[in-house]
Amino acid sequence: MNGGRRIVAYFDAVASRYEQHAGPQAHAAARLAEGVAGLSLPEAPRILEIGCGTGLLTRHLTRLYPRATILASDRSLAMLRVARAHLAGETRLRFVAMDGEAPSVRPGFDLICANLAWQWFAHPLQSVARCRDLLNPGGWLSFSTLGEANFAEWRALCTAHGVAHGLHDYPSLATWRAHLPPNALLSEERHPTEYSSALAFLHALRAIGAQAPAYGHRPLPAGTLRRVLRGQSEKYSSSYHFLYIHLP
Ligand SMILES: C[S@@+](CC[C@H](N)C(=O)[O-])C[C@H]1O[C@@H](n2cnc3c(N)ncnc32)[C@H](O)[C@@H]1O
Repeated sequence: MNGGRRIVAYFDAVASRYEQHAGPQAHAAARLAEGVAGLSLPEAPRILEIGCGTGLLTRHLTRLYPRATILASDRSLAMLRVARAHLAGETRLRFVAMDGEAPSVRPGFDLICANLAWQWFAHPLQSVARCRDLLNPGGWLSFSTLGEANFAEWRALCTAHGVAHGLHDYPSLATWRAHLPPNALLSEERHPTEYSSALAFLHALRAIGAQAPAYGHRPLPAGTLRRVLRGQSEKYSSSYHFLYIHLP
């Protein structure tokens, strides 16, 4: 199974339970929607959403733009099924299975957006240009993604034990700034999340389908993992590092 398919398989497997564990993702969707609300868009915009998942951001979009035409897409069919159920009755909304890194749609969108899907792309920086080509003049590309300090606590814990953390390395805010045109709007947010233990943190990643390790990472042998987790059975905090990007 290639990297992209493996990632989608993880999301397929958790789709029906995803929202029970997706508090941080819901938070980022709300923050991204706040940013979108501040953009100058037509009253009845054409919107493409990439990696819509179960529709956390989609619900904000339908509320913000009741006259919009929305095409919500994801690679995971199971996620799309759940999103469809949540948004049943929305007549201006269509769902499509599509790889957001190679969007197979005609241009003509006023807004293309994605909440926490971009970090799963094999080429996150390069994917921006492909999406911007699909925008109408005056259109916006708005997305949230993960930054270089995501789960810094887990990285530090693994480093202290001399073992590989297995997390993906994401482009930093500085890298995004250097890559994007100067009129891009970028912001970042640290979002600490409490877990009952470090093991509960790892289980929570699994529950939202986000456990796909970095390319080439081998899962830690059980004994090594036990060593890392020893002494981490009390309350454990790990911080998401969210980046929000709005680009005309
Ligand atoms: C962390 S979830 C976020 C879902 C939703 N946007 C939310 O805010 O809850 C990531 C989503 O991106 C989708 N995804 C990952 N890679 C993708 C790709 N290349 N094209 C489209 N969707 C993708 C996954 O299937 C999953 O639904």
